[in-house]
Amino acid sequence: MCGIVGFVGTNKVKDVLLDGLKELEYRGYDSAGIAVLQGEQFSSYKAVGKLDNLVQKVADFKPKGFAIGIGHTRWATHGKPTELNAHPHLGTSSYVVHNGIIENYQEIKNQLTQDGVRFLSQTDTEVIVHLFEKHLAVEKTPFEAFEKTLSELEGAYAILLATKSMPDTIFFAKNGSPMIVGVNDENEKVFASSDAPLIGHAKDVLYLSDGDYGYVSPTELQLFNSDAKNIKPTFSPLPTSKLSAQKEGFRFFMEKEIYEQSDVISDALLGRIQDDGINFDELDPALFDGINEIKLCACGTSYHAALAASYLFERYAKVRASVEIASELRYKEPLLLKDTLFVVISQSGETADTLETLKMAKAAGLKTLVICNVDNSSMVRLADASVLTRAGIEKGVASTKAFATQMSVLWMLSLYVAQIRDTLTKKAMQKQLHALREVPNSVKINDALHEKIRRLSKRYLHGHGFFFIGRDVFFPLALEGALKLKEITYLHAEGYPSGEMKHGPIAMADPELFTIALMPKTLLYDKTKSNVEELSARDSTICAISPVTFDKADDFIQTKSHDHYMLEFFEMMVALQLLSMEISVRLGNDVDMPRNLAKSVTVE
Ligand code: AGP
Repeated sequence: MCGIVGFVGTNKVKDVLLDGLKELEYRGYDSAGIAVLQGEQFSSYKAVGKLDNLVQKVADFKPKGFAIGIGHTRWATHGKPTELNAHPHLGTSSYVVHNGIIENYQEIKNQLTQDGVRFLSQTDTEVIVHLFEKHLAVEKTPFEAFEKTLSELEGAYAILLATKSMPDTIFFAKNGSPMIVGVNDENEKVFASSDAPLIGHAKDVLYLSDGDYGYVSPTELQLFNSDAKNIKPTFSPLPTSKLSAQKEGFRFFMEKEIYEQSDVISDALLGRIQDDGINFDELDPALFDGINEIKLCACGTSYHAALAASYLFERYAKVRASVEIASELRYKEPLLLKDTLFVVISQSGETADTLETLKMAKAAGLKTLVICNVDNSSMVRLADASVLTRAGIEKGVASTKAFATQMSVLWMLSLYVAQIRDTLTKKAMQKQLHALREVPNSVKINDALHEKIRRLSKRYLHGHGFFFIGRDVFFPLALEGALKLKEITYLHAEGYPSGEMKHGPIAMADPELFTIALMPKTLLYDKTKSNVEELSARDSTICAISPVTFDKADDFIQTKSHDHYMLEFFEMMVALQLLSMEISVRLGNDVDMPRNLAKSVTVE
């Protein structure tokens, strides 16, 4: 997720911008930049890679006196991590920084190009500053030009814009991406994507709402709401701890990332769900020419996403889908045929085993695709094509939002391939698209659910093991639930197909055997129910997760009724993530940094 900072004040612009970007590093980035305006003079600096590269570039830049400035750390979504794509983006007399995705950027860019505008970057963001300057030439005031610009943007954005036409003013807008503005006793203004950069520079803070926009100057803060009404800003006191600010009030990064899933899934879907199908700007449909099999390869949580996706590819795209654990594929002398599309899934894009299998597939002449969360990673650079999951940096070692966005992208990809192979009717596609649009809502957490799970977690702090069971895509989800529990509570757990329990594991059934049963209403409910009843009849302790009440369970987590099983999948995913986290809290473990684990396993 990108980071944004802004400042209006005296003698501190460079420090406030750079310190602010440093505080936002936790959000993840692959390039950074600032632009400072003093009177008629803009100074702008950008650098790829770590923030220190930018700090070195601005070492001799020592602005004195009043200035306005904007800064940005970029997490690449449209366009590679390069200096040209780094923010701020320049028009002719204005600079802009932006966090989010402008869904209709291509049509705006096409129109502006026809008007003679020359674009330097591949980003969606650059259209904002050129559109602003187009309106600046005709509107009465820069603010009206800014309002007109906003009225034409679709998608999610947090924007700061500085222009020579009003050299003491920063224009701002917030819709779907976070942004706040702080003020201090000297009436200086500081903007940021989260609290941390404001601490030490502001006393009171205004948390902007979606649709809010306006401008600040040394003497003013003018705020307008989504109805274009000029409203009085409501300030709150700023938290004092930077670390808690980075966790944005949550106890752990993992908790924050579970709660972020709704937003990051929205980002993953943005610009890809069309009215009548799926679009991936970054893919050429020819990638799938001559393909009769999709082989998905990954490790850990990403492997679980791959396994769940295999059901979707076969069900919707009617293409054979096989799944491999990377560390196994490496040494089994596999049969890699050229009519197979080799798809690797990796949050980090650096996992050694997965990376090696990608090299094997390329060496065997297969076409390759990576589903990844880090744009400049080794796998993205190596694969023929890549689709970014846009989860933003994931700090918790136990993967949550990365898995959620992998599943969102893979579901869309199965429909994209179904489009190419014409295996879904228009009606069937519309049913899928309708459900996909509901995913962000399905992972929103209500306090009652979290409190229920927190309370029941006290019963699961011991026992001689857990079974997580489910059928179809709920079997990979059961595997994922078991892995979450293992990696942050250190308790033993197994994910198992619920139909397999009677082939041996049921011998373990007794009150000390905890079974977490995933019982979706819309997929094989009766089959799963009878499997669970077999366990309950043998006195196993059952925690059922289902929209349908189940009187043979010792514990029950009620989920919502949905008309598509994948929405049940996402909602149950959240319940499993919270359950593991709350058990880990009770056991006093380090939720974000579990023992023996690394965030990215770059050795085999
Ligand atoms: C997930 O909770 C684990 N931390 C781990 O299994 C992880 O999914 C695995 O190491 C693969 O990582 P990758 O997605 O970055 O390739």
